Amino acid sequence: MSPMRYVDQLDVEGRRVLLRVDLNVPLRDGSVEDDTRILAVLPTINYILDNGGMAIVMSHLDRPGGKRVAGLSLRPVAERLSEILATEVTFVDEIVGPAATSAAERMRPGSIVMLENLRFDKGEESNDEAFSKSLASLADIYVDDAFANAHRSHASNVGVTRHMEECCGGLLMKRELKALEGALESPKRPLVVAIGGAKVSSKIDVLENLARVADRLLLGGAMAFPFLRAQGLEVGDERFDGAAEEKARRILESDAAKALVIPEDFVISTMDGGVETVAVSRMPDGAQPLDIGPRTIEQFVNEIKGAGTIVWNGPMGMFEKEEFSAGTRSIAKAIADASAFSLAGGGDTGSAVDRYELRQRISYVSTGGGAFLEKLAGRQLPGIEALEDPEFIRS
Ligand code: 3PG
Repeated sequence: MSPMRYVDQLDVEGRRVLLRVDLNVPLRDGSVEDDTRILAVLPTINYILDNGGMAIVMSHLDRPGGKRVAGLSLRPVAERLSEILATEVTFVDEIVGPAATSAAERMRPGSIVMLENLRFDKGEESNDEAFSKSLASLADIYVDDAFANAHRSHASNVGVTRHMEECCGGLLMKRELKALEGALESPKRPLVVAIGGAKVSSKIDVLENLARVADRLLLGGAMAFPFLRAQGLEVGDERFDGAAEEKARRILESDAAKALVIPEDFVISTMDGGVETVAVSRMPDGAQPLDIGPRTIEQFVNEIKGAGTIVWNGPMGMFEKEEFSAGTRSIAKAIADASAFSLAGGGDTGSAVDRYELRQRISYVSTGGGAFLEKLAGRQLPGIEALEDPEFIRS
């Protein structure tokens, strides 16, 4: 288990807490469309406020690229947080500077301030020393509850820790690490991992590691394509990433290949706009599979039923369209029905879980996307290292 200290081990009374959260939430028409990530950090915010601390909340939103972008202000997020907490959240229209400093100075125990989108300042992503120092100067204690951002090495989660006397994780960080480390360090076997989704190039490296730890690795969505192509099938179009195919070939030639469960059939969209189920061996060249087929679903569901631990990331197909949703829906339902410990993570996976109203029936749904995957792959996350290792913090 991680040697990190957490906010419930610190005395926050009368102290300003600089709280990094990940409120990178979808907005629609200027308001928050999905508040899952806001709800997830409430235990930490409430802990600080209920114990007489003052919370200075900071987050990024989307990728504005170091400049102010209309439509990417955190103001609507602050408004939503204020509604949920039923208390005033003072929104500051800047990140560091005189308004932020004066808002921090005016705080009283139990009060809460939210700063503007961290990524409006280019110092955030470049982990700039002066920007980190200015953030640190706003508070007495630093708490990082942004697990979903822990794979980034930015000023607000890494740089800032070098300038604060006391740094620790928040309660969401604690839950996330406990769930992920528990599932991966001593999983009840067999460990069945289902990986789907479309971001093939960013996930293929994770697969190399997962194939070594998982007993069964179910490949759905576009994640199956490089493996099929490595076996000589022209799946996916000519834009397909050749490097992913090469990595898939390496996995297929390694010991890890025995864990792989590659789809036998797919649902494809035909030239005339129809929908057809085809066996992999009969797939027309250049076909775009948009869901796993019924035989594959049956096989995946059986593997999930026999699992001791289940990890899921990425939909099995284009589940937003009814005709291509059976794979994702069936896998999600099978995971929810299983008695094994189940862990799901990633933005689209979370949306699928909510679409089928299964969130309460999955043991743990992570708020992380990229961070979840990197942690699964066994990588060290800079945001976690900065909190765990005092030498790292001070170096
Ligand atoms: C996420 O949504 O995965 C995190 O907020 C990180 O966002 P990023 O990929 O833009 O760094």
